[in-house]
Amino acid sequence: MRRVEGHINTKHKMGTINKEIYGHFSEHLGRCIYEGIYVGEDSEIPNTNGMRNDVVEALKEMEIPVLRWPGGCFADEYHWQDGIGPKETRKRMINTHWGGVVEDNSFGTHEFFELCDQLGCEPYINGNVGSGTVREMSEWIEYMTFDGESPMANLRAENGRKEPWKVKYFGVGNENWGCGGNMTPEYYANTYRRFQTYCRNYGDNQLYKIACGPDGANYEWTDKLMSIIGDRFADAISLHYYTVPGGWDEKGKALVFDEKGYYETIEATLRIEPMIDRHLEIMSKYDPEHKVKLIVDEWGTWFDVEDGTNPGFLYQQNTMRDAMVAALNLNIFNRRCDRISMANIAQVVNVLQAVILTEGAKIVKTPTYHVFEMYKRHQNSTLVDCFVDSPVEECEGYKIPLVSSSASVNEEGELTITLANASLSEEIEVSTTVVGEFGTVSGRVLTGKMDDHNTFENAEVVKPVDFDGASLDGDTLTVKLPTCSVVTLVLK
Ligand code: AHR
Repeated sequence: MRRVEGHINTKHKMGTINKEIYGHFSEHLGRCIYEGIYVGEDSEIPNTNGMRNDVVEALKEMEIPVLRWPGGCFADEYHWQDGIGPKETRKRMINTHWGGVVEDNSFGTHEFFELCDQLGCEPYINGNVGSGTVREMSEWIEYMTFDGESPMANLRAENGRKEPWKVKYFGVGNENWGCGGNMTPEYYANTYRRFQTYCRNYGDNQLYKIACGPDGANYEWTDKLMSIIGDRFADAISLHYYTVPGGWDEKGKALVFDEKGYYETIEATLRIEPMIDRHLEIMSKYDPEHKVKLIVDEWGTWFDVEDGTNPGFLYQQNTMRDAMVAALNLNIFNRRCDRISMANIAQVVNVLQAVILTEGAKIVKTPTYHVFEMYKRHQNSTLVDCFVDSPVEECEGYKIPLVSSSASVNEEGELTITLANASLSEEIEVSTTVVGEFGTVSGRVLTGKMDDHNTFENAEVVKPVDFDGASLDGDTLTVKLPTCSVVTLVLK
């Protein structure tokens, strides 16, 4: 067994891990909204006001903090007025971006807020810049948040909702460098300034405005955008980075891969770390006080769709490899919580690296679900200094730092440590000093073969179990990490 050392200093506090870092994303894409979340009130699948009870219950247990909607690329084709009023009269249209299927608009603004209410999470609405107008965006905000007499507030009341909703997170366009209008950074930045002017704060509702940031390593976009919007017009800019191991033309299958494919995926995931740091460095040039945060509002694995499924639906299975990707990303985001205010894995149900898969009335929690559930104690906790001197190994031609970690302290003073061992061949013993007053350690572990996964027939192949590989002796914590494992420890 490989031995490595580390230190954790709970006296060294490094910022609050916003609960929104554990956020999710739901788009009108494939079976995410329809079937996955919303089945309608007349469905035989048990539901409350049309929302699947099993899915809502699972997401609540995972403590989903925020949900982004309606896209994605769909957002810049979405005209919100199509999705309000009596369902029989709502426009039936084609979802041109995703699969060419009929979009009947039965899930719209009211249904999204109903969903967020049931989940107890913050809504994150993404507005339409690509094919929308300033007026349309401005009126949507009025419709959602204005309290009193106004054309949009009256329309909302006519549609059954007198009280305004609270909306904090509002995105002004999505991927405007691509599906959101193929804009240049200069054009988008100036367009953003115009659109955001009319995104009003009504009453005590305060919008947190999010500008469309870069695609992966497009540093020029960040530079130009920030040079034009500076630190006055946006609360955050977004970053999209997907783990696409073989590149867009050779993504490979979610379930069938070899060790090389596994390590290639890990390496592709870890590229996000220097990428984030470089974007943050560029942002600092124009915003030295770091008023503008970074939001990674699309991340996760993107593989080939499962055989026999609509290529436009992006439905893929999910293995221990995906669990590892989630664990590494979340540790990276935690460690930068001073600058990253939110992250949203793509997407919540039945699309890409989903935490839940459904088939008819059946539901399965994926390995990725379990990582989010195991990490939930970090939400709104205080990041503390945590360093593990991870070995960097050459694995199938890829240089991989094997151990990933982060640690936080909650209001009760309990310490949560999340660790992942990406190695498929080496168990690793981590021995770390812990500065702080703790007497007990307990934990859970998620481990298995790299391609282990849950199916509708066998839903509990991968699930967390109690962990007996950690011991605390004075101020020394010793943890024996199995191969391909994710561990959560709680010290009290
Ligand atoms: O998550 C799927 C798609 O990926 C989103 O619609 C888009 O924003 C991104 O390209």
